Amino acid sequence: MDLYQLIDASKEPILRTHDWIQEAKEKGVGLPHALSLASVSPEGQPSSRMVLLKRLSDEGLVFFTDYDGKKGQEIINNNKAAINFWWAKTNKQIRIEGVCTKVSKQESDDYFYSRPRGSQISALTSKQSETLESYEDLLKKAKQVESDNEGKDIKRPNRWGGFILKPNLFEFWTNQENRLHKRELFILNEEGWEKSLISP
Ligand SMILES: Cc1cc2nc3c(=O)[nH]c(=O)nc-3n(C[C@H](O)[C@H](O)[C@H](O)COP(=O)(O)O)c2cc1C
Repeated sequence: MDLYQLIDASKEPILRTHDWIQEAKEKGVGLPHALSLASVSPEGQPSSRMVLLKRLSDEGLVFFTDYDGKKGQEIINNNKAAINFWWAKTNKQIRIEGVCTKVSKQESDDYFYSRPRGSQISALTSKQSETLESYEDLLKKAKQVESDNEGKDIKRPNRWGGFILKPNLFEFWTNQENRLHKRELFILNEEGWEKSLISP
């Protein structure tokens, strides 16, 4: 199965992102589509965590999460976010900046209902980033949700869905000899993606 969907992709930085993920995959990197996502709190405190890329297109990069969790709320309050990919086996890095919006309910449904039932039960059980009494409590709650829904389809909770980060900046970093690394910058302007090189 594909790690993520690649659709309507023709722009150079989008295709390059896809190529670099595929290259990492071919070299045996586990979860080559995992990315670090940084959001910012209302106080201006950045925080980052890993999420999985699920769709890539000229429009942007899609990931799924809990809208009510820490990152979900931070992104809803301040839609500016940043992404970082790095793969040990290729020693390449991609930095991306942009703005996030929620994907359509249809896209969130399509992805939610494609997931294994166990993941759907977990999404229903876990209110992301909330404090727990104990880990056992969470397991108990998951069992309860499972038995309450026996024989029924699990409905996607409204708080669970996708965001698309619409990029306005990419930097492709390639490891080179003597630390003279190559950094290729793409900035979006009215004419499209403008490319330049920056010093390592
Ligand atoms: C490799 C990896 C992939 C992950 N993928 C996701 C993901 O796609 N969506 C998600 O909500 N959390 C994912 N997580 C968990 C997040 O890193 C994080 O713990 C969680 O989203 C809560 O973050 P928050 O409290 O800042 O919102 C992943 C963690 C790892 C290590």
